[in-house]
Amino acid sequence: MSAEPIPGIERILFTGEQIDARIREVAAEISRSYAGRTLTLIGVLKGSVFFLTALARYIEVPVKIDFLAISSFSNKSGSPGVVRIAKDLDESIEGEDVLLVEDIVDTGFTLRYLLQTLAGRAPNSLSVCTFLDRNSRRIVQVPVDFCCFEIPDRFVVGFGLDCNQLYRNLSYVAVMKPEKA
Ligand code: IMP
Ligand code: MG
Repeated sequence: MSAEPIPGIERILFTGEQIDARIREVAAEISRSYAGRTLTLIGVLKGSVFFLTALARYIEVPVKIDFLAISSFSNKSGSPGVVRIAKDLDESIEGEDVLLVEDIVDTGFTLRYLLQTLAGRAPNSLSVCTFLDRNSRRIVQVPVDFCCFEIPDRFVVGFGLDCNQLYRNLSYVAVMKPEKA
């Protein structure tokens, strides 16, 4: 199958092949960092599912997997930043080496909330791996330990990222046309 862009998409940013190659590199970094330990990957539903499963297959230390889901709200003034857990983890992370796996870090509000919440559960360690980082839009400073790609200030879809719940299943990451995003 060719990666022919579909309507609504302006251009492909990263092909499936580029994504796979970069995920292998990041998985190797993670495997070195956690050598001799067991890693608990926590995926944030739904966007990180494609990335987490691809990443996990290339990690060479023993891995546990758990998921949580969040809801984001705008507050009365319309600004972002209000986040709550809509589906919690199945297991305790007390004493675990936890790697939080995100699809994209944008303003940083979601990640800050998740890190504060998870840190309160006494993991042995807590780090962050994100598929995409749009650092230019950061509002709150958050630590990112592992990152596949830095991206420009454009709305993107594919490889887990959606636009109104569509396009998550694209094998590539693409920039949406401005009128569609
Ligand atoms: P933050 O709290 O602003 O960092 O929000 C990050 C969340 O917003 C991500 O987990 C995504 O669910 C969503 N998001 C941000 N930018 C994009 C994008 O370009 N495409 C799809 N979802 C996005
Ligand atoms: Mg997300």
